[in-house]
Amino acid sequence: MALSVQPIKGSFVGEVELPDLRQIDDATVVELRQAWNQYQILILRGLKMDEGAQVAFSQRFGDLEIHVRTEYLSREHPEILYVSNMKDETGRTIGILSDGEVGWHYDQIYLPGPAVGSFLVAHTLPKEGGATSFADMSLAYEKLPHATKEIIEGRKAVQSYEAFNSAYSVPTSGKQRKQTPDIEHPIVRTHPVTGRKALYICPGMTIAIVGLPEDESRALLDELFAWTVRPEFVYTHKWRAGDGVMWDNASTMHRREPFDVNEQRLMKRTTILPPAELAVPF
Ligand code: OGA
Ligand code: MN
Repeated sequence: MALSVQPIKGSFVGEVELPDLRQIDDATVVELRQAWNQYQILILRGLKMDEGAQVAFSQRFGDLEIHVRTEYLSREHPEILYVSNMKDETGRTIGILSDGEVGWHYDQIYLPGPAVGSFLVAHTLPKEGGATSFADMSLAYEKLPHATKEIIEGRKAVQSYEAFNSAYSVPTSGKQRKQTPDIEHPIVRTHPVTGRKALYICPGMTIAIVGLPEDESRALLDELFAWTVRPEFVYTHKWRAGDGVMWDNASTMHRREPFDVNEQRLMKRTTILPPAELAVPF
């Protein structure tokens, strides 16, 4: 089949017409991969996917990450991470981002080999709010003033999962903290497939620029963050149940918008790792 993709926001976001992901053949997967390199965000509508189908579909794009927040994984399919404020029969919250965690972030920017893609499927939604915003960090990089590009060229930044969790009072275990020490990555990430450059920093998890005095580092980060969330770079996805969004996690950051915590929201995520042959996934 020839895949049809409707542009939603320039070459940043495209909506794919694809009725049943269980039926897709290898040729369609190739077309989807191409579309995903052309658009950093692909929207799929009307999905009827159980967890097994989501895992099987996601695995056609690469190996999947098992998230360190193991308490929020599906028991049957640990490749699935719940993003939810819902509680199980014992009163335990079943997912991540259950409360006010609205910080912009890249998934797993705090790991040595961060994911290149995430696929999130909406199951239960609040009546209002709870959209997800995405920022085009490739375009944000390309449009930076030349002088700023020169300042950040070759520099690294410190990424901290701990900073995100402490900012939003998210409880983590000692083991999880040990598994996710702060880490340095280049500020400009080169996409492993397309070669396009993107700003690889985010307000929620990037705490410093290596080699700059603290005040200069803070000022430059704040300037870059304000730049990247300008409306021209941002797309906000208002979910319908059955929507799936595949985002390029090497060149887009995202955040969940607020919603009434008395309402229920359940999303299921799979996270796609860089190709194994890349020794350094940058
Ligand atoms: C995620 C995430 C945001 C949302 O799944 O990684 O940040 O809106 N989700 O659920
Ligand atoms: Mn996320």
